[in-house]
Amino acid sequence: MKHYDKQDFPLDQIRRFLEPGPIVLVSSAHKGERNLMTMGWHMMLGFAPARFGCYLWEGNHSYELIRRSGQCAINLPTADMVDTVVGIGNSSGLDGDKFKRFGLTATKAAKVAAPLVAECCANFECVLADASQIERHGLFIWDVVKAHVAVSPKRPQTLHYRGDGEFMVSGPAISRKAKFLPGNL
Ligand SMILES: Cc1cc2nc3c(=O)[nH]c(=O)nc-3n(C[C@H](O)[C@H](O)[C@H](O)COP(=O)(O)O)c2cc1C
Repeated sequence: MKHYDKQDFPLDQIRRFLEPGPIVLVSSAHKGERNLMTMGWHMMLGFAPARFGCYLWEGNHSYELIRRSGQCAINLPTADMVDTVVGIGNSSGLDGDKFKRFGLTATKAAKVAAPLVAECCANFECVLADASQIERHGLFIWDVVKAHVAVSPKRPQTLHYRGDGEFMVSGPAISRKAKFLPGNL
């Protein structure tokens, strides 16, 4: 294995390495209003219940819809949707309905009011599990209560944000399954 020459790196840019994504679209609905935003800062927090955490900036219009409804849907776009992802992440729901503006189809979720994005290859319905870190860190902790996943492709080409306007696209798969402890698979 390689050894690298390294230099100090600005802490405010470490996201370029530690933000693997995938980029998702967060849909929300509250009191007759719906919205969409792009999100890269998230992580899995548990298997069962399927728990998911994400950072939402309070300046986003979505923030209040999501906080007040205590619900959202996480929608997984594929690489061909990159311009839609960028458009949604650089515009405000205050300026009009983003489903209409970006030509996306809103379908009804099973367990939450937030609409699902039909053009995304997977949709995860989320209900707020823990609000204790919202005020302090903008961290929303969710239980995923329903998942809708496309049968094909099995490995969708997802987008992963590197900062500075650049995305990676998920690439070839490498399996080491035989070397894993069963509990780590
Ligand atoms: C690639 C990308 C990743 C983003 N990640 C996040 C994120 O993790 N959390 C967040 O609060 N905003 C994030 N944003 C910003 C919101 O998507 C953006 O502010 C959006 O316009 C909010 O829309 P709204 O005001 O209609 O809710 C991201 C934007 C882009 C383009």
